Amino acid sequence: MGHAEPQVAATLQPYWMPFSPNKEFKAEPKMFSRAKGMYFYTPEGKEVIDASAGLFCVAAGHCREEIAHAVYEQLQTLDFTAPFLRAHPKAFELAERVTQYTPAGLNRVFFTNSGSESVDTAMKMALAYHRTKGQAQRQLFVARERAYHGVNMGGVALAGMVNNRRAYGVGLAGVYHMRHTALPENKFAKGQPEHGADLADDLQRLCNLYGGENIAAVFVEPAAGSFGCLPPPKGYLNKLRQVCDQHGILLVFDEVITGWGRMGANFGAQAFGVTPDLLTMAKAITNGAQPMGAVAAKQEIYDTITNAGPAKGVEFFHGYTYSAHPASCAAGLAMMDIFAKERLIERAAAMSPKFIDAIHALRDCPIVTDVRSVGMMAAVDVAVDGTPGARGHEAQKRLYDAGLNLKSTGDALIIAPPLVMEDKHLDEITSKLRQVLQKL
Ligand SMILES: Cc1ncc(COP(=O)(O)O)c(C=O)c1O
Repeated sequence: MGHAEPQVAATLQPYWMPFSPNKEFKAEPKMFSRAKGMYFYTPEGKEVIDASAGLFCVAAGHCREEIAHAVYEQLQTLDFTAPFLRAHPKAFELAERVTQYTPAGLNRVFFTNSGSESVDTAMKMALAYHRTKGQAQRQLFVARERAYHGVNMGGVALAGMVNNRRAYGVGLAGVYHMRHTALPENKFAKGQPEHGADLADDLQRLCNLYGGENIAAVFVEPAAGSFGCLPPPKGYLNKLRQVCDQHGILLVFDEVITGWGRMGANFGAQAFGVTPDLLTMAKAITNGAQPMGAVAAKQEIYDTITNAGPAKGVEFFHGYTYSAHPASCAAGLAMMDIFAKERLIERAAAMSPKFIDAIHALRDCPIVTDVRSVGMMAAVDVAVDGTPGARGHEAQKRLYDAGLNLKSTGDALIIAPPLVMEDKHLDEITSKLRQVLQKL
């Protein structure tokens, strides 16, 4: 390919890797040193197809020149300005462009640097909103089992995946969990499953138990992503919306994965026809090329908090040094151009049925125990072999060796390719999966 492969550092020890088995990795490293389009390349030059869009980020495919140029130019023009008391034009421009995609009414945008920060920001917005309205007693939150809401302390409290919580119990009070929606009768359902809308009654039960007037917000991923693709049962999100409205509770959709076309619509909100009050996003907003997250808020929430503040002082005591970083905004604007020019979201919607059929066809591999799918996201569960998660972990290693990159969670293999995937890539993904699943 004419590329000199970058060198790997002499020692792997100083780097403490996140969410990774450090000892195992360092004994048996699995690295990528470059990427292009649908593919990663290892330091040895081996090609590996990216079936997880990095980590649900790279919707437009890797190393887009438009984004690289925009970031380079931005860093030569204005590298940094404080986002408090100062701003730069691209922050306003990007916020405006984002609101062209968010559901109607969610037209105020607060920038963060990650999904985790977006979640904690949305929690603070909910608390500040209710306090401003004279309802400071609304301090409780409701989330759901099997949820992933990032790793900051607020998001960990909301989380419903036990390994992400168990070591950090102190300080996680004030969050109650609804049951998850993975029902045996929904096995191998394509798209939204038929059963489970009544699980939304859990929210009413929590309102009965703790007082709906004490709950600030309900956080859900419209379709759970990190756990392994759990699309919402038909009618489930509508019911949550109804109960929230009845009790004056804010509904928050955590769309860090489901946003930006992954569900075959701008956001899960539009895909499932339910509008939240706050919506978190990150990842594909910059194609993963720069760290950035955002919270889109209903104008009423912004107005309530902002108008209640002093005429001249700060209204919302929250923000990050790197909120709306110029390079991230430049990347985000370049990505907005790509979304528009390449009609990426329409393309995802058009590809989704074929993608879903192809992944579901893997159910005839004997170790596959379930396949779930929605939009351009799917999960294939492999049968537990001894320790839960061991076989899923082994599968992702063997897939890497076979030239396919994906994220596994426990025994679920998650497939969420870049939205620019073509038929030939889908064929490559499914044939590599089949090859490995048949021998596992
Ligand atoms: C729904 C959801 N919320 C929050 C996050 C956290 O995002 P980040 O890793 O950018 O902090 C993720 C990450 O996958 C996510 O899927």
